[in-house]
Amino acid sequence: MKISIIGSGYVGLVTGACFAELGNRVTLVDVLKDKVEKINKGIAPIYEEKLDRMLGKNIGRGRIHATTHLESAVMNTHITFIAVGTPSRKDGSIDIACIMRAAEDIGKALKKKTEYHTVVVKSTVVPGTTEGVLLPLLEKASGKKAGKDFGVAMNPEFLKEGKAVHDFMNPDRIVIGAVDEKSYERVFSLYRDFRCPVMRTPPRTAEMIKYASNAFLATKISFSNELGNLCKRLRIDSYEVAEGMGHDERIERKFLNSGIGWGGSCFPKDVKAIIAFGKEMGLKMELLDSVEKVNREQPMRIVEMLKEKIPVLRGRRIAVLGLAFKPDTDDIREAPSIRIVSELLKSGAFVIAYDPKAADNFRRQFRDVEYTASARAAIEGADACLLLTEWDEFKKLTDEDFKRMKGKTIIEGRKILDPEKAKQFDGVCW
Ligand SMILES: NC(=O)c1ccc[n+]([C@@H]2O[C@H](COP(=O)([O-])OP(=O)(O)OC[C@H]3O[C@@H](n4cnc5c(N)ncnc54)[C@H](O)[C@@H]3O)[C@@H](O)[C@H]2O)c1
Repeated sequence: MKISIIGSGYVGLVTGACFAELGNRVTLVDVLKDKVEKINKGIAPIYEEKLDRMLGKNIGRGRIHATTHLESAVMNTHITFIAVGTPSRKDGSIDIACIMRAAEDIGKALKKKTEYHTVVVKSTVVPGTTEGVLLPLLEKASGKKAGKDFGVAMNPEFLKEGKAVHDFMNPDRIVIGAVDEKSYERVFSLYRDFRCPVMRTPPRTAEMIKYASNAFLATKISFSNELGNLCKRLRIDSYEVAEGMGHDERIERKFLNSGIGWGGSCFPKDVKAIIAFGKEMGLKMELLDSVEKVNREQPMRIVEMLKEKIPVLRGRRIAVLGLAFKPDTDDIREAPSIRIVSELLKSGAFVIAYDPKAADNFRRQFRDVEYTASARAAIEGADACLLLTEWDEFKKLTDEDFKRMKGKTIIEGRKILDPEKAKQFDGVCW
């Protein structure tokens, strides 16, 4: 099938590369010229495992092309996915300006198109947006009738950054909230080779499934952090508690790790958005309010722990290992590292940071941090080391590496080092 994708960020680019890999012809659209040029050269503007190779291969095969021209992309394809950002507004609600603009531009292109076309919303939007906001915009701009002259569907994306290509190709489920039968069939046919449950739902249910999934996972982590904080006070290993709980199949072990809290481009934004949306609907959303509050305070715990060891941070060298909000990505959006590093700098500490992929993105926001080319260089001579992202390469650091520190304090936000090792170094595991 010929597919156009509006927005070539994490979701759009991965979706495009994967659909091309599956044999489709993909036109990626973005407003950023630099991004478009990079993609056409086969260079992924973001870091994701396997993405560069998949993109390069399919550009070579002539299956992917990127452009800034939305109209021609829509005119020359059968189906258009919208994957533009839906960021938070100050009050937590989502800002749908970009997606509204995209829908309007698609509508204008549809006006000139004679054949039936399907528009699929892949961006995360609050329940009711596809049918209540975007569909009327498409109809108004095109002068055509949805369900008759063109089709509309909502197809939420569940990929995890860091494993985005793998997740797209091996989904747990596909949810298609189609307005019309023909659009459902089109979207379904794109995923026909995947072996997973496919649900057809009303669009607003599809929209809610996405929020419910992220809000639930965020809740699990905040729950673990709240109990983890208590465990810490009682000198109980919260990871052992998590293991004990995880054996219960109703609970399941995943997402029970306590630590410095969740971040990224999705959980913080989506939890805030569903809280704001609930309130707009006249509901209090007390549980999710608390989930968000626990997470807001959690990154500061590691700084408190550090200050218990080193009460005056002014002038002290603090090594920070890991800046990305999770391993295998260069994404630092809402990463706990942002609040932690800000606090360290505010306390007068000298921050030496290393991240295998996210340092360039972090540098744009934090110029007062020294960035090193390796974890070993960062910890050399440091008074203390904070481990903030569970990159595999940090697991390989040896006692000899940590002995090059000046001080003996290693505080783990993710508990990936051998606890025995941490003990030797006066370290604190979460
Ligand atoms: N990142 C994730 O892990 C993830 C996972 C699932 C769902 N989502 C959702 O998918 C959506 C996109 O997220 P993302 O992380 O890929 O965002 P992103 O910021 O990485 O990418 C969005 C892209 O859209 C482009 N864009 C904005 N307006 C445009 C327009 N009118 N025409 C063409 N391009 C335009 C931007 O330049 C940018 O490149 C969001 O709603 C997000 O909540 C994200």
